[in-house]
Amino acid sequence: MNRERIGYGLIGCGGFGRFCLGEYRTMPDLRCVAVTDRDPELLRSTAGEFGVEAITEVETLLKHPDIDIVHLATPPFTHPALAMQALQAGKHVLCEKPLALKEADAKAMVMMAEAQGKVLAVNLIMRYNPLCAAVRRLVESQLLGDPLHATLVNAAQDERLPAEHWFWDPESSGGIFIEHGVHFFDLFEWWFGAGEVVSAVQLRRPGSKIVDQVQCSVRYGESTLGTFYHGFHQMHRRDRQTWLLVFETGTVSLDGWVPTDLVIDMHGSQRELEEAGALIPGSSVEVVQTYADDEQVSRSRHRVRTVEVHGRIRADAGCSKLELYGKILRDLMEDQVAAIRDPRHVRRVTESNGVSSLAYALRAQELAEASG
Ligand SMILES: NC(=O)c1ccc[n+]([C@@H]2O[C@H](COP(=O)([O-])OP(=O)(O)OC[C@H]3O[C@@H](n4cnc5c(N)ncnc54)[C@H](O)[C@@H]3O)[C@@H](O)[C@H]2O)c1
Repeated sequence: MNRERIGYGLIGCGGFGRFCLGEYRTMPDLRCVAVTDRDPELLRSTAGEFGVEAITEVETLLKHPDIDIVHLATPPFTHPALAMQALQAGKHVLCEKPLALKEADAKAMVMMAEAQGKVLAVNLIMRYNPLCAAVRRLVESQLLGDPLHATLVNAAQDERLPAEHWFWDPESSGGIFIEHGVHFFDLFEWWFGAGEVVSAVQLRRPGSKIVDQVQCSVRYGESTLGTFYHGFHQMHRRDRQTWLLVFETGTVSLDGWVPTDLVIDMHGSQRELEEAGALIPGSSVEVVQTYADDEQVSRSRHRVRTVEVHGRIRADAGCSKLELYGKILRDLMEDQVAAIRDPRHVRRVTESNGVSSLAYALRAQELAEASG
């Protein structure tokens, strides 16, 4: 029975590695075998808590015959060397984001994975969030017309990021666009197609070298503009993220960096409202206002639009943010496990998404640094 399960090993028992381990050990397809960490006390306590082997050396973990996939949950600057080592040892790799800090490293890692015939997935979870998938279906359906503008305002907590944390050191993390922004560059590319970073800016915390606010704009095709703001300066209790997507005939709002709530506000026909609702399982559809025949002609973008109703669609994740986070982590892992079992399996997140999301982040970082 155990032979049929995919063996999992974790490198890096920090906050996120442990959170993931707690989720992965509930997956019937996965067997959590061993963990390693540089910190011996953390290694011992993690192994004890999760009932897995504690291995002090990465090299030893990578030789373990029962481990098929290695999760790299170490700080970003360590990803290229550790991923290369794991791939050369014949292991599949689930690498934490970002894949690397340099594009050349990321490409070399992907080439190594191809040469070894192994999976090298990056934990870009946003594509597995059902609400984000619903937005993608909405964009494809054209029920709200073209997407025109999408913005993310990420006012994140820094209460758990002391000044000496690797997050603030660009040599270790790559900076905010690279360490964190890749999630959102990846998601917007999934929604809107390939984009081009057109401007970026960064601000340092007064009296310090720390960059704690960054912003950039990305153009997608001819008519969609994306803007991303990331600021790490809030109390834990005030950690807030809001999203607003403006379409030709409606808006979509999302709440939370792992979005848990979605609201669509739209004007259109009764059929369009119903079809949009049907794209989002579990949603509620409300007619806010019905227009009489002589009120139905409206105009925007120099086009005539027939508006029968003003409608609102609401959906939520049906669980807490933490439960949703865990579920989408498991779904991403399950997708990769399916590809390990059958290389013909088509995954939602692949190696190329790791490289592509990093390319946006590097360009944004370059433009932001030029800004001061
Ligand atoms: N996908 C997501 O949603 C998500 C969320 C949070 C963090 N992350 C990513 O997870 C990674 C880890 O973040 P974290 O917050 O858990 O960091 P952390 O600092 O809490 O943990 C990192 C751990 O790695 C260990 N480590 C460092 N170098 C090592 C090495 N060479 N060999 C063995 N162990 C080593 C450290 O001792 C530490 O325990 C980062 O890349 C981060 O960007 C991803």
